[in-house]
Amino acid sequence: MKLKNRVLVITGGASGLGQATARYMVSEKGAKVALLDLNEAAGTATVEELGEENAIFCQTDVTSEESIDVAIAAIMDKFGAIHMNVNAAGIPLPCKILDREGKASSLAKYAMVINVNLMGVFNVMAKCAEQMAKNEPDQKGERGVIVNVSSGAAYEGQIGQSAYSGSKAGVNGMNIPAARELGPWVSV
Ligand SMILES: NC(=O)c1ccc[n+]([C@@H]2O[C@H](COP(=O)([O-])OP(=O)(O)OC[C@H]3O[C@@H](n4cnc5c(N)ncnc54)[C@H](O)[C@@H]3O)[C@@H](O)[C@H]2O)c1
Repeated sequence: MKLKNRVLVITGGASGLGQATARYMVSEKGAKVALLDLNEAAGTATVEELGEENAIFCQTDVTSEESIDVAIAAIMDKFGAIHMNVNAAGIPLPCKILDREGKASSLAKYAMVINVNLMGVFNVMAKCAEQMAKNEPDQKGERGVIVNVSSGAAYEGQIGQSAYSGSKAGVNGMNIPAARELGPWVSV
């Protein structure tokens, strides 16, 4: 897919891998980027750096469907389409199964990690795919591209990573059925 002037939605776009992707795609490829992140200060600073004509920040919680809907509406309003989606928002919160006293961990921490790292990816992927499916196919027949960020911990997590590794293994497991389902419209 040609990247110039195409619109990329990046979750976790205010920091780390997501932010680096935004910088690269704007400065090297001439793409437009939408940064979806909880961190407003870092998100707005990144937009200032990239230029308001190239970037938009939407303070978004990827675990909230409503929050994503608001972001998608703002992106469509500003750029008129969505062509790419990189899902990089993630939390590495450690979550041991038993604490030092041998007491079982509460489910809340585990659920939070799964909610952000796995359900958040599904949430944003689905909303972006809905918009991509409306795009005119390019010369290669593509309407969009989705990249879901996983981790080596999906295969070989450390002690305390049962939640993180489980969430990333979930992303890996989701990718092939997502590609099969969305293939007629987009690439995953
Ligand atoms: N850093 C590593 O060594 C490493 C290794 C393998 C995989 N990864 C994965 O790569 C991705 C990016 O990692 P990173 O190190 O750049 O992370 P990072 O911590 O620098 O950035 C993650 C961003 O996600 C945002 N975020 C967290 N919860 C959110 C939510 N509910 N809604 C919206 N945004 C939210 C944070 O505010 C932050 O800006 C993650 O999915 C991570 O699991 C990282």
